[in-house]
Amino acid sequence: MAEPTLPEQVTKLYDLIAGYHATHLLEIGRELGVWEAITARPGGTSDALATQLGTDPFYTDVLVRTAFAFELVEHDGDGWRMAPHFDQILGTPSATFYLGGAARTHQVVGEDYASYVQRFRTGIRVPYQAHGRAFMEAVANGLQALPRIFTDFVLPKLPSLQARFASGARVLDVGCGGGWALVQLAERFPKITCVGVDNEPYSIELARKLIAERNLAGRCEARLMEAQRLAEDGAYDVATSFLVIHEIDPKDKAGAFAAVARALKPGGQFVIFDETYPTTDAELRKMPARFAALAQWFELTWGNRLNTKPELAELCANAGLRLADETTFSRFYVGVAEKT
Ligand SMILES: C[S@@+](CC[C@H](N)C(=O)[O-])C[C@H]1O[C@@H](n2cnc3c(N)ncnc32)[C@H](O)[C@@H]1O
Repeated sequence: MAEPTLPEQVTKLYDLIAGYHATHLLEIGRELGVWEAITARPGGTSDALATQLGTDPFYTDVLVRTAFAFELVEHDGDGWRMAPHFDQILGTPSATFYLGGAARTHQVVGEDYASYVQRFRTGIRVPYQAHGRAFMEAVANGLQALPRIFTDFVLPKLPSLQARFASGARVLDVGCGGGWALVQLAERFPKITCVGVDNEPYSIELARKLIAERNLAGRCEARLMEAQRLAEDGAYDVATSFLVIHEIDPKDKAGAFAAVARALKPGGQFVIFDETYPTTDAELRKMPARFAALAQWFELTWGNRLNTKPELAELCANAGLRLADETTFSRFYVGVAEKT
């Protein structure tokens, strides 16, 4: 392949910086209700949108044109409609693939960059759990789609696991955060009971509130507990974890896998829904695998360590778990390990 020219590399630089501005565009559009409004009324003009939202007409037109530049919306007559699938991804909060909160999550995560130079110089570690309430809320909101993607898209590819949920499993959600997996699993599968554990107190408060709001206190419970200290042997049919394994302190990870394995019944299954670090240069350079490399970058000073797939398999094997099934969804890896 021919070497890129200098002007092409300058364009590439601005293309990278464009992602920063697009992140803000996504979030400002969400806050104003632009994506939901275009989804609800395709074909509406910028002026009609501004009238509906009570926003400045010129500002609104520039916002939508910029969204068009980024291929988030398309022309529809004199007006606009969402680009294919973005009506679900950005415009429908109840949709399985709604990721409208993702930009906000990354804005909050990005606040750490202000301290990165200093953290690089001192080597200081500021764990996930030290990030405060607004951060915990943004993460909980931003990740709401994961359990829905799991039940609607991933589970149908894993029939034996799906059958367990349907027939009434006792489920442990490791690193339950704000509790969305607990309530979504419990609502989708009326016969299951769920226990969530997390070592971040405010997230457990959020999870308990959510459980109460959904009237699920009879079947769901959230406990403040470190995964590596789980002490219920053979109590669960299924354990789940959504974006958690890479968050567990590397020194505690083997202990957490061992504790989860002990907590499972013989033949029980552990679902690892997470990112895996690329193992080849080609993967590093290609989306969506590259996003896992980025996660290692933006979570670096939290002390996180993203594992490769072989490392995950080894963690499982050392805990007496056998990786029986694997699949992927966009940047996410889903592994199902069985207690041997
Ligand atoms: C990125 S968040 C994901 C939360 C939740 N699963 C979700 O999808 O919204 C990772 C969670 O793992 C929790 N966590 C990290 N290490 C843990 C440990 N050793 N024991 C229990 N929870 C842990 C964190 O406190 C945090 O709530």
